[in-house]
Amino acid sequence: ESTTEVDVSAIQPGQAIKAVFRKQPLFVRRLTPAEMEAADAVPLSALRDPQTLAERTKDGHHDLLVTMGVCTHLGCVPLGAAEGENKGEFGGYFCPCHGSQFDTAARIRKGPAPTNLEVPEYVFSPDGSTITVG
Ligand code: FES
Repeated sequence: ESTTEVDVSAIQPGQAIKAVFRKQPLFVRRLTPAEMEAADAVPLSALRDPQTLAERTKDGHHDLLVTMGVCTHLGCVPLGAAEGENKGEFGGYFCPCHGSQFDTAARIRKGPAPTNLEVPEYVFSPDGSTITVG
C-alpha cells in the first residue's frame, strides 16, 4: 500500500496542516506547550477512549500530533486544522455533522464519536523534518 511523506518542519506551534493519506484527510498539528499541558491534565478516567498524549505521539516529538481527519462517528471531516476554523469546546477538533468534540490530543470528549481520531502508522526522518505515513 502507498505511503505519504509530509514535511513538518515549517509547522509552527499552534498550527496544523491538512494532507492526504490513502485518499483520506490527514491532520498534522504542532501543539503549543499549553495545548500539551491541557492534554496531560485530563485524567484517563474522564476519557471515553483512554489514551495519553504520549501514547498518541512519538518519543522526542510529543508536540507533533498526527491523526486522520476523519470523524470516528460517521466519517465527516472535523474542523480545526485550518486557520480560523472552530476547534470546538476542548480546543482540538470539532465535527460539524453531529457535534463530536475532540481535545488537543484529538481524543473524543463529547458527542457521538465512539473513539479518538485515529493515529496512523508513521515514522520520522532522522532529522525530524519529515514524516512518512503508512
Ligand atoms: Fe462526526 Fe457524526 S460524523 S459527529
